[in-house]
Amino acid sequence: MKYESEEVWFPLSEDILAWDEDFHTLMLNDEIRMSAYEIAIKEVVKPNYIVVDIGTGTGILAQWALEAGAKKVYGIDVNKKILTLAEKRIEKANLKDKFVPINKISYEAELPEKADVVLSEILGNLGDNEDMTPILDDARKRFLQNNGVFLPKQIKTYLVPVSSPKAHRQIIDKKCRSISTKYELTELLNKLGIKSQFDIYYDSIIPSSSYLAKPILVKSFDFDGEDEAVYQTETRYEIETAGLLTGIKGYFIADLSANVTLDISGDDIAGRKTSDCLKHCYMPIENPVLVEPHDILQLTFSRSYPKEKSTPFRQFYGWDGKIFRNDKLLGEFRHGTYKVNL
Ligand SMILES: C[S@@+](CC[C@H](N)C(=O)[O-])C[C@H]1O[C@@H](n2cnc3c(N)ncnc32)[C@H](O)[C@@H]1O
Repeated sequence: MKYESEEVWFPLSEDILAWDEDFHTLMLNDEIRMSAYEIAIKEVVKPNYIVVDIGTGTGILAQWALEAGAKKVYGIDVNKKILTLAEKRIEKANLKDKFVPINKISYEAELPEKADVVLSEILGNLGDNEDMTPILDDARKRFLQNNGVFLPKQIKTYLVPVSSPKAHRQIIDKKCRSISTKYELTELLNKLGIKSQFDIYYDSIIPSSSYLAKPILVKSFDFDGEDEAVYQTETRYEIETAGLLTGIKGYFIADLSANVTLDISGDDIAGRKTSDCLKHCYMPIENPVLVEPHDILQLTFSRSYPKEKSTPFRQFYGWDGKIFRNDKLLGEFRHGTYKVNL
């Protein structure tokens, strides 16, 4: 699927339970994601290992684990239709007797044995926007052997203030591309109860030429039981380039294994250095602020859940900021997916 820099796309991580085969096809054609995972799985999974693949989807990671010699792979996925595709794939590869499909949300799955490796790709472009923290914490407690390992082993989330008048214009006009008519912005806003199109983030490739300051690491996830799913981070950016501050770009760099890194920050679309299915996260600012070098942006980035957690995968992100010039307040913004009329 062709796309351009700074084009604003439907935020697929906010609509997980609606994912269909089209999105899985996009994932399967995502070169940087696929090649990193294949190499990492073949590095980590050893003959006779027991593997759990959380969110197995169409089963490609499970297949690679079996090809690496795994004795058994438990493939868990909440999406029944997609899990059927995994079963077909594994059958075609003549590996059916070593694959156990489980059509449940992982919290409700029970396994007869513990695993050497818990494998997953439940990553959003912010790292945790597909709720990986509690899902993998539960997996660590119930599925992983004492000396077992996670793949990915560490995720780091970075944020950077950016200038993208092109993305801003599309959001004003509520123009948002998507892989099919099934994913529609106004419908999603209604579903989530969000009134303003500036209170949701978008998938978009925001090039490094748009950066107004240096990216800062805001969160690191190690899956050791200490990761937080609810947090508030404060970061201070010194502006280096004059421009119109229109939003915040977020992205992750994941160590899949000791030797394989999946870095989604790239912006070379033609050179296949971008992740087609993840892109970057673009958190917009409704009233952009003209900034100059040495201005200071104090950014508060938060994640939480609705009080009544009725829908799985529903989460709240917030991005609030104050911009100072010579200690005087120049502008501020307050946005987030928590701004709902529940
Ligand atoms: C990003 S896709 C990855 C699919 C596949 N592993 C791949 O790499 O192509 C994530 C999949 O995980 C499933 N999923 C996410 N969280 C889950 C959970 N806690 N339990 C079961 N399935 C989950 C979704 O339904 C989706 O099919």
